[in-house]
Amino acid sequence: MAVQVSRDEGVAVVTVDRPEALNALNSETIALLREAADELSADASVRAVVLTGGGDSAFVAGADIVEMSALTAEEARQFSARGQALMSAMEAAPQPWIAAVNGYALGGGCELALACDVRLAADNAKFGQPEIGLAITPGFGGTQRLSRNVGAGWAKYLVLSGRILRAEEALRIGLVQGLYPKDQLRAEALKLAAEMAAKSTLAMRYCKTAVAAAEATDLATGQSVEQYLFSLCFAGQDQGEGMAAFLEKRAPSYEGRGGS
Ligand code: COA
Repeated sequence: MAVQVSRDEGVAVVTVDRPEALNALNSETIALLREAADELSADASVRAVVLTGGGDSAFVAGADIVEMSALTAEEARQFSARGQALMSAMEAAPQPWIAAVNGYALGGGCELALACDVRLAADNAKFGQPEIGLAITPGFGGTQRLSRNVGAGWAKYLVLSGRILRAEEALRIGLVQGLYPKDQLRAEALKLAAEMAAKSTLAMRYCKTAVAAAEATDLATGQSVEQYLFSLCFAGQDQGEGMAAFLEKRAPSYEGRGGS
């Protein structure tokens, strides 16, 4: 299977594993990833997700060029729509998704990483949107999420040149949030996932929704969303537990349920 999912103590690890094509996203892999994303979103026992690439040298080396080379315009539109829907499903997941970028994250691979909530990179990771070199635009949201993450200047630099950034440069421009030696990346991603998994799932979901609103709306509307979600936290069980645990100097034990 080109996509493997494992679960351990509230943390799921999703691995894209097509070694023969450096984990490139063909239609089958996109469908398997979408299936995995939907299943994990519906599984309340999964409180954080780590996404990584199988093998040593690639996270995901792009959309599959062999498959794309034979597409008609209408098939290309559908391919793009399915890829975009996958990225949106990951973004809308109730749990945080952490990309552990363990090598090439090019084209669809960079877009896949951008659809995660947080990106951690190994020192051998490489990022780029090389589609212009194939005479196409990015098709899985890259032109949109890259600008939102690193600003229009860097987005244009990458999309218009097709140049590849090294991991340190990706860190410098804010494309990734952490950079680790290759052999430590997985452990660091799992450590961050475990920290997030220990938090209130309710507050986690509201925090994701509120930050997403910052990109989708103006400041006043975004603040209204925040105000509403902030107040909703006080209708659930976890806020009382979190604050009591702080005051009693103990670890909290969350239920993750909303108020009725
Ligand atoms: N789609 C389909 N197959 C791909 C692929 C992709 N995006 N990226 C790599 N592969 C395949 C190669 O064709 C090769 O297959 P082969 O062994 O049958 O020839 C295999 O994966 C290994 O890749 P190779 O190019 O030999 O590895 P490399 O280490 O020399 O180079 C890259 C690595 C990532 C620089 C190079 O594979 C590359 O440029 N890939 C395409 C990146 C890209 O343009 N992505 C955006 C697509 S929209």
